[in-house]
Amino acid sequence: MAKTKRIGILTSGGDSPGLNAAIRGVGKTALGFYGMEIVGFRDGFRGLVEGRRLKLDKAALAGILTIGGTILGTSRDRPHRMLIDGRTRDMTEVIVENFKKFDLDALVCLGGGGTQKSALHLSEAGLNVVTLPKTIDNDVAMTDLTFGFSTALDIATEAIDRLHSTAHSHHRIIVTEVMGHRAGWLALGAGIAGGADVILIPEIPYNVEKIAEAIRRRSRRGTNFSIVAVAEGAKCIEDARAFTAAENKRGRARTLHDKKDAKMELAALEARHTGNTLRLARQLEELTHLESRVTILGYVQRGGTPSAADRLLATRLGGACADLIHEGVFGVMVAARGDGTEPVPLEKVAGKRKIVLPDHPWVQTARHVGTCLGD
Ligand code: F6P
Repeated sequence: MAKTKRIGILTSGGDSPGLNAAIRGVGKTALGFYGMEIVGFRDGFRGLVEGRRLKLDKAALAGILTIGGTILGTSRDRPHRMLIDGRTRDMTEVIVENFKKFDLDALVCLGGGGTQKSALHLSEAGLNVVTLPKTIDNDVAMTDLTFGFSTALDIATEAIDRLHSTAHSHHRIIVTEVMGHRAGWLALGAGIAGGADVILIPEIPYNVEKIAEAIRRRSRRGTNFSIVAVAEGAKCIEDARAFTAAENKRGRARTLHDKKDAKMELAALEARHTGNTLRLARQLEELTHLESRVTILGYVQRGGTPSAADRLLATRLGGACADLIHEGVFGVMVAARGDGTEPVPLEKVAGKRKIVLPDHPWVQTARHVGTCLGD
């Protein structure tokens, strides 16, 4: 087994708390424990294409554990479809060349679902790649958890806690939009932890009338305020059907014309969905005669100091990543498995998403404590 000497590392996709803790975990273990060298690439795969890099020595890794965001910067650029001088180009070859040019023995990619796909692509192009699962959405397949999720969960829960007192004082419905892309982990977790009265997630399409009835029932019992935690990807039954039909149409499309048609249909649905939370609040106001307000938590959920749980997870995964590189294990994501970690082949992760199944214990818990899930 050839001794790995030089590791490249990059962060890709949306930033999330814990990225710096993970960079430090990989870096300190690689440098201090195995005597390797580590170099960071700026702004995701774009930095690797453009050769923009930063030596991650002891000094560069010091003091970053508690800092939010990523010291390397990030982007949503993909190796095989990168916008260069106004044109979309496949930069895979350039990345392969730069991997050699910068004398790298391994590349560590920290990211969510999109990054796992890009990493598999580079692994198939012959690079020694290891990934770590990062995202506040917690939707990466084959891992118990992603880092970033715990911090975002704390932030969203605290927001719901704070919204309770103002909703209560004004006898209002407050509809709180929680991030999570197309998965309901964050809204469901924060909704349960914060005691939201209604939790709406993409995996369970909702019926507005049923939500209104749950709120009216609370009013009849003398509680005339409600907190509705709605995942940004949650949809009513009709919209969910329309999305599925358009997605199926895109899947079946064979001609360029049909593909374009299906793509436009999906884009129109996405555009309409942007105002969904405001529309929902208006509908609930009309149906319940309770004043409604909206709070969109947005990027606040991705910012700031990582929680202790995220620092611990990111450090554990980072350390295990350096161990795998030392052992010469590549083409894998370092998954969180219970208290430990496990290398999972990238083929099993890329292109898949971990969503909330309807019989997941969290769903049952929410139902058991009387939370309306809109169905
Ligand atoms: O994946 C993390 C996430 O914050 C999602 O929850 C959200 O849908 C998306 O990123 C927002 O992406 P962007 O930062 O590109 O606006």
